[in-house]
Parts: sequence; structure tokens; C-alpha cells
Amino acid sequence: MRLLSTKNISPKQLSAATALVSALLNTAFSLLLTNSLWTVVAVFIVTFLVTYGVYFYTLQVFIYRKIKVIYKFIFQTKATKKEEFFYNNILPQKSIEEVSRDVARWAAQRRYEIDALKENESFRKEFLMNLAHELRTPIFTAQGYIDTLLGGALADPEVATRFLSNASRSIDRLVRLVDDLNEISKLESGRIGVVESAFVIQDLIREVYEEFSMQAETKPMTLTFKKGTEGPIAVLADRPKIRQVLANLVENALKYGHDGGTVTAGCYSTDGQRVYVEISDDGPGIPETHLPRIFERFYRADKSRNREIGGTGLGLAIVKHLVEAHGQTITVRSKPGVGSSFGFTLREARN
Ligand SMILES: Nc1ncnc2c1ncn2[C@@H]1O[C@H](COP(=O)(O)OP(=O)(O)OP(=O)(O)O)[C@@H](O)[C@H]1O
Ligand SMILES: [Mg+2]
Repeated sequence: MRLLSTKNISPKQLSAATALVSALLNTAFSLLLTNSLWTVVAVFIVTFLVTYGVYFYTLQVFIYRKIKVIYKFIFQTKATKKEEFFYNNILPQKSIEEVSRDVARWAAQRRYEIDALKENESFRKEFLMNLAHELRTPIFTAQGYIDTLLGGALADPEVATRFLSNASRSIDRLVRLVDDLNEISKLESGRIGVVESAFVIQDLIREVYEEFSMQAETKPMTLTFKKGTEGPIAVLADRPKIRQVLANLVENALKYGHDGGTVTAGCYSTDGQRVYVEISDDGPGIPETHLPRIFERFYRADKSRNREIGGTGLGLAIVKHLVEAHGQTITVRSKPGVGSSFGFTLREARN
């Protein structure tokens, strides 16, 4: 009985134990019927072998082959050497309890995958809704101006010019939105490769500052470096893509920053392997509730205000993709009324 209740008993052991019990019983009976030692021994051997054979065969056919099918289904792979080893050596050792645990684990994993798929599905729906909404605004605006022009406003050249330039601005916004969407879908389908080269990150930041110098002057805002981090640090990355990352971050800092504020870039070599680049501003900051979602497509912290400023909420989503395409990470720290800091890592170039 102890043998039978042992958990990890293999089919061979179980058959042997059963065969031994029947053989002993038969032998005991045959002892009552005959005095011939040979007959008794023969009864023992024959009973043992036949019971063993029948029992083992039954176990194999009716239980283990079925369990094997379950495992084949779980693994969903063709037989490999490793799998053969599993069937021949590991599976026979498994108790029914272990098999049921394996199946439960497999089911849990499937459930997890299904949950992920469902989440994706709702994400997709939300994305389409946002997209329709974002497209509708500039299209309806342009349509409104054009309809008014056709309805008679063309007669007044001054009004006509103003309406046309308003319509044109809406179309510009539409074009930018489509460009951004195109960019993001390329990034998400992983079709954009990263072409790395070594360059000095501070030089690139200066280039981006130069690009935004007019915008900074009119706001006005100051574009600077954090003291002590102006020195050259060489990184290994895709230069045009990192330029795009920096341009988006500087653009945001200028767009949302207070007049008279400052944008500060900091570059830090961390462990000799990675460089930490941070673009900070002393603007309005982002409330903590929005921080976890700030990198999502179409997400804006302050919808009413931002619509005036004219963002689509795709900038940071693109930035995140670009940084992650490098195998690096981007984070945000922000405090309302104090400012925001967007920091990302890059690989340091070794000499
Ligand atoms: N430096 C910042 N200071 C304060 N809020 C910011 C800053 N950067 C981003 N945000 C907030 O995060 C939101 C998302 O930024 P993101 O760059 O993705 O979109 P956007 O600037 O609105 O539009 P786009 O960049 O596509 O023109 C912004 O709408 C804004 O609310
Ligand atoms: Mg932006």
C-alpha cells in the first residue's frame, strides 16, 4: 500500500508492484494444491510476467499515451530530441497531480495571453476613436472656412485672405498629423532600423537649440546647458533619430514653458557604459496622475489648453519609440509649478 501511495511512482514500478502482489497470491494458492516446487516457481514467474505485461501495456495505452497527447498539445511543437527525452524519461516519472499542475500552469499562461489580446483590442478601439477625433477637427475647420468663402465671403478680399490662411493652417495641421501617424506606424511595425554612429551628444543638442533659436527668442525663453555638463561625451546612436527625440523634447519645453523660462540640457556619463541625457524646463509641470500615460499616443495632460497650442499628443509616443528602438529607456520627472525633466539613456561610445 505504501508503494502504491507513493506519488512519483512510474508505470514500470506500478506494474511490477501489482505483478508481485498477484504472483505472490497465486503462489500461495498453488502451494495448497501442489507439492511440486517447480510448479510453484513456474506459477510465480508466469503470473508475474503476464500480470506485469498486461498491466504495463494497459497503463501505457490508456493513460500515458493520452497524457502524451495532452503534452504534445501544450508544447505545440514537433518532436525534437529534447521532447523525446522528456517523453521517455521525465513524463513517466510524473504523477497525475504533477500533470494536472502542468496543465493548470499552461491554462494560466493562455489566459494571460488572451487578456493581453483583449487589452490590445481595446487599445486599438481607443486609438481609432482618437484618430477620428483628431482628423475631424482640422477637416471641419477648413471646411467651415471654405464654405463661408463660397457662400459670399470671397467678395471681401481682406476677409477672404484671412479665411484662406486659416483654412491653410488647418490643412497644415492635418498634414503634420498624417506625417506623425505615418512615422509612428513605421516605428510600431519595427520597420525602421537603427543605424548607429559615434557622435558628441552636446554638439547635437547645440544643433537642435540652433534650430529652435527663433522660437525661443520670440517666446522668450533661454536654451542652456546644465553647468559642468557641456564637455564632450561621445555616444553611439542613430544621429537623425536622436535629433528627432531632442527636437520633440525641446519643442515641448518651449511650447508648454512659461515666458522668460529656461530649458536646460544635462549630459551625464553614468557607469562608463551609458550616458544619461536630460531636457528640463521650469514650466507648468505635469500632474502626477498624468505621468504614467504621458508617452501614450494622443495623450495630453491638459486637453483644453493644449488644443489651443495645437499639439496632437503624438510627439512623446514617437520619442519613446525612437529611444526604445535603441534598446534604451526614457523617463519623466515632473512637479506642477516647478517644471518637467525628460531623461533618456544612450550607449556611450568607447574610444
Ligand atoms: N515640457 C512639458 N511641460 C509640461 N507639459 C508637457 C511637457 N511635455 C509634454 N507635456 C504634456 O504632455 C503631453 C504630450 O506631449 P506630446 O509631445 O506627446 O504631445 P503634444 O506636444 O501635445 O503634441 P505633438 O508633440 O504631437 O505636437 C502634452 O500635451 C502636454 O500636456
Ligand atoms: Mg509635443
